[in-house]
Amino acid sequence: MVQKEELKKEKIEQLTPTQIVKELDKYIIGQDNAKKSVAIALRNRWRRQKVTGALKDEIMPNNIILIGPTGVGKTEIARRISKLANAPFVKVEASKFTEVGYVGRDVESMIRELTDLSVNMVKQERSEAVQKKAEENAIERILDILIPPLKKKPYSPVQARPESTGQGMLIPPGGKVNEDEYQKSLEEENKKTRDKIREKILKGELDKRIIEMDVSAESFPMLQVLGPIGMEEMGLNINELFGNLMPKKTKKRKLTIAEARKVLTQEESQKLIDMDTVTKEAIARVQDAGIVFVDEIDKIAGKSSQGSGPDVSREGVQRDLLPIVEGSTVITKYGPVKTDHILFMASGAFHIAKPSDLIPELQGRFPIRVELNSLSEDDFYQILTKPQNALVKQYKALLDTEGFEVNFKEESLKEIAKIATEVNEQVENIGARRLHTILTSLLEDILFDVPDKIKTKKIEIDRNLVIEKLSKIVKNRDLSRYIL
Ligand SMILES: Nc1ncnc2c1ncn2[C@@H]1O[C@H](COP(=O)(O)OP(=O)(O)O)[C@@H](O)[C@H]1O
Ligand SMILES: [Mg+2]
Repeated sequence: MVQKEELKKEKIEQLTPTQIVKELDKYIIGQDNAKKSVAIALRNRWRRQKVTGALKDEIMPNNIILIGPTGVGKTEIARRISKLANAPFVKVEASKFTEVGYVGRDVESMIRELTDLSVNMVKQERSEAVQKKAEENAIERILDILIPPLKKKPYSPVQARPESTGQGMLIPPGGKVNEDEYQKSLEEENKKTRDKIREKILKGELDKRIIEMDVSAESFPMLQVLGPIGMEEMGLNINELFGNLMPKKTKKRKLTIAEARKVLTQEESQKLIDMDTVTKEAIARVQDAGIVFVDEIDKIAGKSSQGSGPDVSREGVQRDLLPIVEGSTVITKYGPVKTDHILFMASGAFHIAKPSDLIPELQGRFPIRVELNSLSEDDFYQILTKPQNALVKQYKALLDTEGFEVNFKEESLKEIAKIATEVNEQVENIGARRLHTILTSLLEDILFDVPDKIKTKKIEIDRNLVIEKLSKIVKNRDLSRYIL
């Protein structure tokens, strides 16, 4: 099982830089430089793992700063990368650490979050691997309730009367029966009944039947007991802390067989998974493959000039961040995690502050800087249709579920791209995010009227419709500020 998993991981990581860029191209339009740097960083991690000897530990991750205006694909690139690498990935807003009330907030929490994620990832993989076995075990447990397994009773002629005469062995009145044979016949009958019922359960024929059973309390979510402040930051919670010390609570519950199958499968799969190896694998994955995305890092840039005011806490956050980026050990509830080889990607618009405004130590830890371009009208046009998750595709799929086919004419897409560019210039440049707001305004009526009021199953969106729906809003700057 472990071997199979490693194979899977291996395969994904074996993507060459060219292949990584090709994968990213499926979702992100343009931004070739950023894609290239990110691909190199990812591949270099894989290369480092192959290096032998003392040098391996010396090779630092290629931490990257993505620089570019908002809405041009910075976060999207990072998100796609993490999916490709099947790596634990967290995104944090750098500015959150400077917020009032958060000053000095444990920056290490991002590593704990990353570890939690990794544990869940590995657990998920393992439970998929044991799913079938767990389902089988669950059904056996249901059968145990419906048809309790036979207890071996000492043979006594008085009791020797099979309860059902169906296919069991009949005892002739006063007749003598061989003790072994009798026992065997009982077992056979029991097995036959179980087989029959098992079949029915598998076919779902008994799904609605109610059974009563003991369910461990954990199978049902309960209120989380909040511990004193600080505990939460350590990543501990009282339930988990004491959960293992207290006797396992069980509760009698009435469930349908369908529900029981789910609950018991869950329980059985927990039993089949060895949490120690899960934790070990999860920590290894965080250390070797984890990715932390620090968004809006420019918000914590800026040297403290006056010695007081918000700048101090900004530099403070940088100082807190530094050891984690440089490589240190963070204590998590799953054990110590070394951050030396975690890949850090940061992003920011850097309109006011510049990367050189970061403290030198931190600058040194982000050796790669890539600029992302503002998106052009033509980029918008492509973003609308090309990516695998393109907005137009999403709306088509949504309406398709109602049996409606919506078509965007080429000219309408061009018009939408043009409007997006215009509004970005006039109001505020929010990049491709503008497409979301424009499309929702454009399609609002259609989305509301389907399926009640629109009778034609084919809806065509042409340029006129786009202009009709949007031009008034675009011309009125106040209006577009609110709506688009
Ligand atoms: N170059 C691009 N190609 C495709 N979609 C993009 C591109 N840039 C932005 N988007 C879309 O715009 C939205 C915001 O992008 P995001 O990456 O979060 O912006 P930011 O650069 O501010 O991090 C996302 O839905 C994303 O899919
Ligand atoms: Mg972003």
